[in-house]
Amino acid sequence: MNYLDFYKLNEEPFSSAPDIKFYYNSAQHSKALVRLMYAVDSMKGLALLIGDIGTGKTTLARRMLDSLPEEEYESALLVIIHSGITADWLLRKIAMQLGIAEPSENKIALLSQLYERLNELYEQHKKAVVLIDEAQMLRTKEMMEEFRGLLNLEAPDRKLITFVFFGLPEIEENLLLDSPLAQRVALKYRLESFNYESTEAYVKHRLGLAGSKDEIFAPEAVEKIHAYSKGIPRMINIISSNALFEGFLVKAKIIEGKIIDSVVADLGITGEQAEQKAVTGPAEAVDEPFIVESVQQGAVQAPVMQEVAQPRQKPAASPQAPRQVQDAQRQADIKPKPKKQEDQDEIDSILDKLEKGG
Ligand SMILES: Nc1ncnc2c1ncn2[C@@H]1O[C@H](COP(=O)(O)OP(=O)(O)O)[C@@H](O)[C@H]1O
Ligand SMILES: [Mg+2]
Repeated sequence: MNYLDFYKLNEEPFSSAPDIKFYYNSAQHSKALVRLMYAVDSMKGLALLIGDIGTGKTTLARRMLDSLPEEEYESALLVIIHSGITADWLLRKIAMQLGIAEPSENKIALLSQLYERLNELYEQHKKAVVLIDEAQMLRTKEMMEEFRGLLNLEAPDRKLITFVFFGLPEIEENLLLDSPLAQRVALKYRLESFNYESTEAYVKHRLGLAGSKDEIFAPEAVEKIHAYSKGIPRMINIISSNALFEGFLVKAKIIEGKIIDSVVADLGITGEQAEQKAVTGPAEAVDEPFIVESVQQGAVQAPVMQEVAQPRQKPAASPQAPRQVQDAQRQADIKPKPKKQEDQDEIDSILDKLEKGG
């Protein structure tokens, strides 16, 4: 008997993959999604979704891609897994995602191909939307200028392309490499960690989807999971999956608070470290941190960026946390830049109406 049988589960409830099957529409995620959907629906140009490691940005990006109806959007999700990519390379990738079969090697020709394609999509009443995950890895001025160039392409009534950047708060510093681009951010939302109610519902949701019919975690255990994880979903998963395994070893049908204490002690998590651990994943899956060189050497056609484009049958595997991400985590929080207030006010009032069902 393994722990899944012991707890009558059909599958691992707290897997670390950002699998949208397990998506839980927490208050935090739902608010973010409504805003981002509004930004792309009205083709605002550039929207940002920032959040600390493990808060669920990648999960949200995938969920968002899935929520964009194909009749209405030409959409793609690009995951940057390498900070060394060039602006030209990225432009070509975007062109391919938007349906340009043979993007030109010549920059000027490529831009005109893109412009034509974007106009064509506009005429077909389709919105070109590119979601970019791990966008904090785009960090050259040249890259930022390229985005600004694309955002300058407009039809009389709207932008021809909208980008949503998902990533760590340091994205905002990178945007400042080109301050006119930073000023074009039409919407910014920070994904916060779960409050207690969300943590509790999240744990239940995942257990339910994995087939559990009984309460497995005692209320006190859930409180401890929330406290130790600080409401960061990745940490909740790590602690909960280890707790299930530990509970199985000691044959506890109900997992009490003391099991959580002992698991957390074994994982070496003490408050501050919780966020660090969130980077490396569950204890049993000893992940090697992603090293840029190994990608380049590993395969002849090493991918420097993963793509999850429509059709969406084959979601790409989650990239392991890169070194840079870990370093970024240690940095102090970056102050939010003043946003374009009118845009934000307009969005907030529309959203209030939407949320009130008006
Ligand atoms: N809303 C959610 N519903 C279900 N699982 C989530 C949710 N948010 C985060 N997770 C889980 O938490 C972990 C970290 O999420 P991820 O999206 O990779 O975070 P980030 O990209 O911000 O580092 C993943 O295992 C993911 O499945
Ligand atoms: Mg991520």
